[in-house]
Amino acid sequence: MRLFAVVPVLSLFSCSLAGVTIQRAGVSVPESMTNIAPGIMLFLTTTWLPSAWVTSTFACVRDDNSVYRWTRGIIWAQWFRFKYPILLEEAKEVADKLIFAWLGDNDIPYGFLNFTTNEAQTNIAEAGSLTLEWSTLNKYTQNTTYEKLATEAVMHIANLPAPLPGLATQIIDPTTGDFVGDTWGSGNDLYSEYLVKYARLSNTNDPIYIDTWKTAVDSSIHTLLKVNTRTTHTSPIATDGNILHVGSYLTCFYAGNWFYGGKSVRNENIVNYGLALNDGCWNTYASTLTGIGPESFAFSEDGNYIGGAAPTADQLEFYDEYGFYIPDSIYVLRPEVLESKFYAWRGDTKYPDRAASAIDSFNKYLAVPSGDFAGLKDVTVGAPGGYWDVMESFWFAEVLKYLYLTFDDPNHISLDEYVYNTECLPFKAPPALDSH
Ligand SMILES: *[C@@H]1O[C@H](CO)[C@@H](O)[C@H](O)[C@H]1NC(C)=O
Ligand SMILES: *[C@@H]1O[C@H](CO)[C@@H](O)[C@H](O)[C@H]1NC(C)=O
Repeated sequence: MRLFAVVPVLSLFSCSLAGVTIQRAGVSVPESMTNIAPGIMLFLTTTWLPSAWVTSTFACVRDDNSVYRWTRGIIWAQWFRFKYPILLEEAKEVADKLIFAWLGDNDIPYGFLNFTTNEAQTNIAEAGSLTLEWSTLNKYTQNTTYEKLATEAVMHIANLPAPLPGLATQIIDPTTGDFVGDTWGSGNDLYSEYLVKYARLSNTNDPIYIDTWKTAVDSSIHTLLKVNTRTTHTSPIATDGNILHVGSYLTCFYAGNWFYGGKSVRNENIVNYGLALNDGCWNTYASTLTGIGPESFAFSEDGNYIGGAAPTADQLEFYDEYGFYIPDSIYVLRPEVLESKFYAWRGDTKYPDRAASAIDSFNKYLAVPSGDFAGLKDVTVGAPGGYWDVMESFWFAEVLKYLYLTFDDPNHISLDEYVYNTECLPFKAPPALDSH
């Protein structure tokens, strides 16, 4: 039953591949190309990636994050099928370009430059999430430059005094190396994710990665966690330092991260908080007409600290029934809620059951006549609210791969033996230490 449910979604892969072939043969590579590129990495075992393609695509990337995804995919493909050595060359080519983002002696790479003010800013999720890929590149090239740059950036962030212990702010100035503002939120995701994953992949003796991660989780549990009778979420911190009573689809990434990290450090308390967040995030799916979760959810009875307009009477009624209400009802094909099902499903069939329910909803509400899947502008009404007419890279790179793996044999590419990077690409890990 469940396997049948997954088949229509998987058939989408061939559509995407056809699209890629056309783009590849074309004269120019449009910017939107960078959005679907990571998704096809799963198929690089059977296809060939011409050097010129990477180079021309690289010329049109807008931000480091797109390039990071490229490096990730290419390295993984190289690992998986070393018979295509060109892929390692491509990974090195992209990484050698990225190295120019480290100016002077700065630990933190430049992520973004404002041409009006000439001020640079870097998101810590970008600066803090190259460790898995660049330590792997280090291994294959026997060149320590890559891992050194990646780990120095993370250690710099981890050593800065944070507004709340362990919770680095989302933005850092690469010139001064200082945090900008005091906000914490979904922009921290990859940095937090990679703290615990790099420790596991490298078996490093340096306790800073795990200690920082544990401190962050502890701060989150004591300060940011919101629990009511129906739901559990983590909150972001707003620019004025207030803790907002609003969660987002992106922050549901913590459900998977706390489960995985809790297992790694053998802390069942953290695992259980991860599962509570998992339920809270699923609650946002289970309470809409389409069975698909919205972009944001507020859990404020009084309408305070939501960072926007006060709730309407209808929203408050919804809150009474479901424990949250919906300030932003768009679904842009994000993966985090389903990613957390993949991490949690071993041991309890309710997680694959939920993933199967999501697949039914995606087929019913997101499939469009062209054979693609579109986002929804309003998950509370479905198609009448209009489609969000973009198919994001993470739909292929994450949503579909996590769904596939949720129904796969858990011993295949097992979480005990592999560390999955943020694009759902497995890296072979050494035998786990007794404790991290
Ligand atoms: C390692 O890679 C960096 C960046 O490409 C390069 O500058 C350096 O010369 C390389 N080192 C060696 C020993 O090959
Ligand atoms: C650049 O800085 C100016 C002045 O502070 C600001 O108005 C503008 O929004 C910034 N641009 C971007 C893209 O952030």
